[in-house]
Amino acid sequence: MADQGQNTDVILDLDGRLALLVFKAGRAAFANYIYAVFDIRSRDAVLIDPGWDGDTVLRVIGELGLRLRAVVVTHCHADHVNAVPHIAQISGCPVYMSIQEHKSLDLPRAQIRTLDGDYSFSAGTVSVLALETPGHTWGSITYVIGKRMFTGDTLFAEGCGLCAAPSGNSDDLFRSLQKLKSRATGDTRVYPAHRYRAVPGQRFDRVQSINMYLRLTDPEAFRAFCNRPNRSAKKPPLPGTVPVMTTIYDMTPIAAPATDLS
Ligand SMILES: [Fe+2]
Repeated sequence: MADQGQNTDVILDLDGRLALLVFKAGRAAFANYIYAVFDIRSRDAVLIDPGWDGDTVLRVIGELGLRLRAVVVTHCHADHVNAVPHIAQISGCPVYMSIQEHKSLDLPRAQIRTLDGDYSFSAGTVSVLALETPGHTWGSITYVIGKRMFTGDTLFAEGCGLCAAPSGNSDDLFRSLQKLKSRATGDTRVYPAHRYRAVPGQRFDRVQSINMYLRLTDPEAFRAFCNRPNRSAKKPPLPGTVPVMTTIYDMTPIAAPATDLS
């Protein structure tokens, strides 16, 4: 079901009664992954970090006969939330985000669901656990659905998002990563909002083996590594400095784990 002539870059990953739809969109040099988890029986869906190209995301959701029950936001950096107001307006569904960051989004009051502390909720028939994981930003949240963690910029396969002031804090990030380690099992799948080499959906034990930030167990060593002088040189490009990609997607049933998307 890939668009003809487009790069295909999305998987449908069956896992019991839940399925995962993946979009890749945004700045070409550091594209975002936008995820939709849906119940294959009820068709209820949760959309995670729709930063770009909301019309394409809504179109695909409509083509699949899904009912969007919630949008969830890991944090309010623009590349994660650009399309949220448009999708919220069209769908009318609730939007979950940290109480610390909700004022940065212009949404109807009735649709805002602020999260303050770890919190479980249902989006139709899909159960979602929101875990506070500050550090990349002060309101960063990781969403856990089944055996999957949607980590935003808190945790990538081989790294982590920056901890830039005033919102970021490396000590908070250290504690958040310890928290994720305590919550995850080896077969938990990690779905970050960006990737370097490893494709989204890596097992947590694999991520632990390749991610220096997870391997550091001393807070001071972590702080020093996180704030190393040359690190900011590798931050993502500013908006507008590279071409914006059109959303590309495909649906290919796979048994797991995720196939290479490159
Ligand atoms: Fe971010």
